[in-house]
Amino acid sequence: MTILVTGGAGYIGSHIVNELVDRGESVVVLDNLSTGFGDTVPAMAQLVVGDIGDGALVEKLLSEHRVQAIVHLAASSVVPDSVANPLGYYSNNTAGSLVLLKAAVQAGVKYFVFSSTAAVYGNPQTPLVGEDLIPRPMSPYGASKLMTERMLQDAGLACSLKYVVLRYFNVAGADPKLRTGQSTRAATHLIKVAVQAALGARDSMAIFGTDYPTPDGTCIRDYIHVSDLVSAHVEALGYLRKGGASTLMNCGYGHGYSVRDVVDTVKRVSGLDFEVKMQPRRAGDPAAIVADVRNIRRILSWTPAHDDLETIVRHALSWEQKLLARTPRALSG
Ligand code: UFG
Repeated sequence: MTILVTGGAGYIGSHIVNELVDRGESVVVLDNLSTGFGDTVPAMAQLVVGDIGDGALVEKLLSEHRVQAIVHLAASSVVPDSVANPLGYYSNNTAGSLVLLKAAVQAGVKYFVFSSTAAVYGNPQTPLVGEDLIPRPMSPYGASKLMTERMLQDAGLACSLKYVVLRYFNVAGADPKLRTGQSTRAATHLIKVAVQAALGARDSMAIFGTDYPTPDGTCIRDYIHVSDLVSAHVEALGYLRKGGASTLMNCGYGHGYSVRDVVDTVKRVSGLDFEVKMQPRRAGDPAAIVADVRNIRRILSWTPAHDDLETIVRHALSWEQKLLARTPRALSG
């Protein structure tokens, strides 16, 4: 059975595609290459360059490849951008997903794994969040993903489509074999920014906010290695294929690190020092958010293999070094 991976040329998508291909799955990738890179898609998977919002293209693809499962990652995912361009985010993420979902239901696709986000929770009262917490997204990005969750839930009730929603926490690191990694030039994610600073691709980096109500005053996040997130997708697909009911789960490790912890770890692992400037809070950042992982542990036979900040940072550093060796300017964005 063919699996369609939307956004399969992106950071997380390309890791998923590599793993599925390694497992002998037949994979087709739909990606508009707005942020993805075609060369990260392995030769064994077919890359179709196009948009999830192009209904005719999606219908053709689903029927030509007799797609039975969709792993849907294609989305815009930069929180501050979504605040500046909310309608662009609703258009790309929510309206685009509607087109994809309609085509999937029409084509009789059986299984759907959806890439959602911890951003649906907003700024929680207590750091540890379970899936039963009422979502209160603070950004159009979070809201656009929550709307898609809702569409999926309603569609799942009305037809035979079975789904798993995975709410990603802070994804970082790179493929341990370094086949792919976070290649986005203007990435804003903390670990990527810090390894760029360590490698001299940035003159310095900033810590946004040192007056949060946390032990060291900086924000706390649950960083998950991208390879463990990949195995969560593989397990979710396996669960659905075995007849599992539609469900929703957090994807994290259940413990967090502060921004200072991350910066210190990057300095220690790299053995390199770099300038860190203290700056005011970044708009929209929750103080602390950590996944309650009881659901994923209970429902899927998921055992993380890289639950270790040093490992995440080491793999992120190795990937960045590889990017630098390939195209020095790739690091400067
Ligand atoms: N941070 C810095 N300096 C930087 C970059 C980040 O201090 O240069 C801080 C942020 O202020 C925040 C923390 O590091 O406190 C993590 O920031 P990221 O930008 O790495 O990640 P976010 O937590 O903002 O968001 C990420 C994804 C979202 C997703 C969210 C879920 O970007 O798509 O995790 O928690 F929704």
